[in-house]
Amino acid sequence: MGLLRASVELVQTDTRLSERNELRGVSIPHLKEGMWLLDCGCGVGSITVGLIDHVRPGLVVGADRAFGGFRGAIQYASEHEVAGLEFIGADAYATPFRDDTFDAALAHSMLETLDRPSEALREIRRVLKPAGVVGVASVEYGGLLLAGPSLELLQNFYKIRQELWLRNRIANPWTGRNLRAFLVEAGFSSVEASARYIPYGDPEAVKRFGMDRASDCQDPEFAEPAAELNFADSVTLQAIAAAWSRWATDPRSFAAFAWGNAIAWKQRCKKALLGGHSREMVDKKQDQTRSRPIPQQAPLKSGLLNERLLESSANRFRSDRRHLISGDGMFGG
Ligand SMILES: C[S@@+](CC[C@H](N)C(=O)[O-])C[C@H]1O[C@@H](n2cnc3c(N)ncnc32)[C@H](O)[C@@H]1O
Repeated sequence: MGLLRASVELVQTDTRLSERNELRGVSIPHLKEGMWLLDCGCGVGSITVGLIDHVRPGLVVGADRAFGGFRGAIQYASEHEVAGLEFIGADAYATPFRDDTFDAALAHSMLETLDRPSEALREIRRVLKPAGVVGVASVEYGGLLLAGPSLELLQNFYKIRQELWLRNRIANPWTGRNLRAFLVEAGFSSVEASARYIPYGDPEAVKRFGMDRASDCQDPEFAEPAAELNFADSVTLQAIAAAWSRWATDPRSFAAFAWGNAIAWKQRCKKALLGGHSREMVDKKQDQTRSRPIPQQAPLKSGLLNERLLESSANRFRSDRRHLISGDGMFGG
């Protein structure tokens, strides 16, 4: 099987479950049929669900410390009989997986939420097979482009948000630029970092973006701590919300978010490392191995992937499709 055009530069598009088969603008050129992939910090699992299409008949495991977040995705997978997809509650710093389990891993829009991203990447490295590949993507507020009316107020919005993120340890807004450093610190080799922009530059995108930011200003999770910490009182927030609403319909408005991406290998397969075999020979051998049937025993250190828990979770939580496509608070925007 040739290379699949999926995505590890990944899904820093607006990927939602509704778009899960498209993975717009994303490419995980290293994914292949039969691979085992870990989506670390999978959130609601909207990306995770789409990834199975790129490794089938392999296995995709979504792991997140917020166990309940992916209940909708579990239900979706069960209703649509999506095979090869598992979810587990797990801490990125200490996952329950055995060493050398996965062929690929993804950490999308999650390293920015961690105090010790390199440590989490070290854990990902541990559970990757020797030739395993990891893809990471994180927002980079230093590259934010904004144009249009009332720029000062809009910039003030981002100033407040960044202060809040840092103060409340929600996220580091400047993670995108450091992905290469984190991967190197975690012991990965052949680290390839890049950056890209997600633009909001047509009437529909500008409107959605501006109105979302206007409603952020009224969101108690933003407004309350902003007031408590004296970053902005309610009058200032109202002015900022009004500026976003104006911006949303102004034909001159434009915004673009920078994202850092990186791909790295646990131990890049070089000819010397492969006992004189070529990359193609090794790929062929790995393909043969991967064509094995998926074992009943899942890759946990001990025992089965929490199947009973997942099943009861899927039964316990009833959610409609709207929940699935509501997005998971991916950073950026
Ligand atoms: C912004 S969301 C990103 C979700 C998803 N990867 C995406 O891009 O849509 C960050 C996720 O990382 C998870 N997370 C943060 N710290 C974690 C940790 N120590 N272990 C596992 N998951 C963690 C959060 O629970 C949250 O679901």
